Amino acid sequence: VGAKLWGGRFAGDTDPIMKKFNASIPFDQRMWDADIRGSKAYAKALEKAQLVSTKEMEQILTGMDQIFEEWSTGVFLIKPEDEDIHTANERRLKELIRAPAGKLHTGRSRNDQVVTDMRLWLRDAIKTLTDNSLQLISTMVERAAVEIDVLFPGYTHMQRAQPIRWSHWILSHAVALSRDVERLLEIKKRVNVLPLGSGAIAGTPFDIDRELLRKELGFDGISLNSMDATGQRDFIVEFLFWASLCLIHLSKMAEDLMLYSTKEFSFISLSDAYSTGSSLMPQKKNADSLELIRSKAGRVFGKCSGFMMTLKGLPSTYNKDLQEDKEAMFDCFDTVQAVLQVTTGVMSTLKINQSVMEAALSPDMLATDLAYYLVRKGVPFREAHGVSGKAVFAAESQHISLNQLTVEDLTAVSPLFGGDVSSVWDYRSSVEQYRAPGGTAKSSVAAQVEHLRIWLTKQ
Ligand code: ARG
Repeated sequence: VGAKLWGGRFAGDTDPIMKKFNASIPFDQRMWDADIRGSKAYAKALEKAQLVSTKEMEQILTGMDQIFEEWSTGVFLIKPEDEDIHTANERRLKELIRAPAGKLHTGRSRNDQVVTDMRLWLRDAIKTLTDNSLQLISTMVERAAVEIDVLFPGYTHMQRAQPIRWSHWILSHAVALSRDVERLLEIKKRVNVLPLGSGAIAGTPFDIDRELLRKELGFDGISLNSMDATGQRDFIVEFLFWASLCLIHLSKMAEDLMLYSTKEFSFISLSDAYSTGSSLMPQKKNADSLELIRSKAGRVFGKCSGFMMTLKGLPSTYNKDLQEDKEAMFDCFDTVQAVLQVTTGVMSTLKINQSVMEAALSPDMLATDLAYYLVRKGVPFREAHGVSGKAVFAAESQHISLNQLTVEDLTAVSPLFGGDVSSVWDYRSSVEQYRAPGGTAKSSVAAQVEHLRIWLTKQ
């Protein structure tokens, strides 16, 4: 009983199954570094408040440095009484420096300690995920620049819609990912706030200089209210939601690529490095990377909604339910990081089949341009749409393609059609009309590439 940090008021021991149930050390040891950083800063604040002497502070700092060394070389020994990373590090400090270790927790609670650690950890994780995302976006942007001349069918409702540039498709996903980066950096502002000095619920009765703690730990601000600081986990929910949205985007992209990689489409082929085979069917090359990217979205949504369920209806301030926050946070980080890395690999190694992509374009995809031809001759768009629709119907009834209709066939639906209508049946000139910003013309796609390149340098 005596070995526990909170054992004083207990006469009996914890049930062994309960002990395991209660412990978070199996997963929260990932925050060992953040926990040490927090404790070192706190020791400095204690010294300033004259709660420890300068010598005691130095002993604490040296002890913490040694613990850091033990964790980073993998020799830190977790003991059965270590409930979580906080108790483990403090227990070890006591073994190393004895008496002064008992002063480190003065005015501190694991309630403000744990959120301090999580905010430090998540801040670093956000930096890593930002870098991983930027790497992916940059891969996509450069690919779009190289393959800017490739055309292929654009689909809406999974039906052939209009000819577009392959690069336009790539950038449509890159742009969504750039917003994800911006959102992540938004979240960082709310993550990077110091809770330490909030105690268990009421704040600290000592002269703990929270501004010193803020500076030491590199936080942008100080939490305003100690009950909020120790009891709220909205910053975790924001991160879990961010992970969910990012994977919604990547699962959509994976789904498109999967379709494009089927034999039926054959627009792209995935590198062997990101494919797997079948144990039964020798010919198979499966896009497992893409399927897993798609699947991880479900996993991450589960963590997000699961943790929101945990929070729903909780009374205010710290409750042990909140210990559930860490596994969700770690798992979403690991999952999103892996997805970003694999997607980068897929996007930098897949091969496109330009001739198949362009051969897949069909004249019916130019029906909109046929209507625009009439618009340019002064026909109101609604009317032009109807006329073009009639031309599509005529071609279908004759079992020919739209561009095989004769000028006579066309003048039968509108007298405004002339010999120059043949200019409509060119896919390259079709896409070149879409020149306004955001469109699929070469100049417009090149401008998107440029915009994203500049955006990348600013992140
Ligand atoms: N392991 C705990 C957690 O993750 C640390 C906080 C414990 N606080 C407490 N009052 N029991 O939430």
